[in-house]
Amino acid sequence: MDSVLPAAEALGRARRVVVFTGAGISAESGVPTFRDDLTGLWARFDAERLATPEAFHADPDLVWGWYEWRRARAARARPNPGHLAVAAIEARVSGTVVVTQNVDDLHERAGSRAPVHLHGSLFAPRCVSAAAHPAASGEPDAEPGEGRRVPPPRCVHCGALVRPGVVWFGEALPEAALAEAVEAAAGCDVFLSVGTSGVVYPAAEIPRVAARAGAFVVQVNPAPTPLDPVCDVNLRGTAAQVLPQLVAAAWDPPGG
Ligand code: APR
Repeated sequence: MDSVLPAAEALGRARRVVVFTGAGISAESGVPTFRDDLTGLWARFDAERLATPEAFHADPDLVWGWYEWRRARAARARPNPGHLAVAAIEARVSGTVVVTQNVDDLHERAGSRAPVHLHGSLFAPRCVSAAAHPAASGEPDAEPGEGRRVPPPRCVHCGALVRPGVVWFGEALPEAALAEAVEAAAGCDVFLSVGTSGVVYPAAEIPRVAARAGAFVVQVNPAPTPLDPVCDVNLRGTAAQVLPQLVAAAWDPPGG
C-alpha cells in the first residue's frame, strides 16, 4: 500500500475536504456491497427485478420486502472505525463535505452532521404521487426474509403506495444533492474517495470533477478501480483500517 504520509500531509493542511463514499465503507459493518464477487448484492439478486421503477410497479410487495430486508440489516449494523474517522475529519476541518452513494444511515450514526445522499436513503420512504409525501419509516420488520413479499404501506396523506426513498436505476439523482456534491468537489483541496467501484454515473463523475479542479485526490479501496488513474494516491486497504491511520498521521503524528 502507498504510504499514508503524502495523503496525511495534504489532509493536515486542507481547509476544504470532500469525503466521497460508496458501499465499501459500510462493508466492515456487515452491510453488503453491490459488486464484490459472490457477496455483492448484484451477484445474488436481480437488480432489474428489484431496483427499478418498473420492478416496483410490477411487484411492489417483492420490492418493498427486499428493501425492508436491507433496511433491517442496516438498522442492526453499527458504524465502523471508517465511519468514525470520517466524522473525525469533519470535526478537524470545518470545511468538510461528506457525499455518499450509500442509503444506510451509518455516517449519521457515526456523527457526520449532514451527509449528502446522492442515492437517497432506506430511512426516507415516500409515496409514489407527484407530491412524494414523506412516509414514516417505522421499525423494520424483525427480519423480513431476503425474498419475502411485504405489501408496502399506503400514504396517510393521499393513499398512494409508499416506495423506498432510494434512487433506482433509470431515475435521476436528487438535483440539489448532485449540485451540492459537484460544487464541493470543484472547490476542495483534498478529495477522499472511499469504498466505491467508481462505475455508476453520474456519481462516478464527482471524483473526476475534483481531479480536474486540481484537488489532491486520494482513493481508499482494497482493489483497483477505474478511478485509479485520476488519483494522486491509491491506498490499498479497507476503510476501517486505512482511514483511522490517515487521520492519526494527519493530526496526531508520532513525535508531534
Ligand atoms: N473498505 C473499502 N472499500 C471496500 C471494502 C472495505 N472494507 N470492501 C469492499 N470495498 C470496495 C470494493 O473493492 C469496491 O470497489 O468497495 C467498492 C464497492 O463497490 P460497489 O459494490 O460497486 O458499491 P458502490 O461503488 O457504492 O456502488 C455505487 O451502484 O448499484 C448502485 O446505487 C448503488 O450506490 C450504489 C452504486
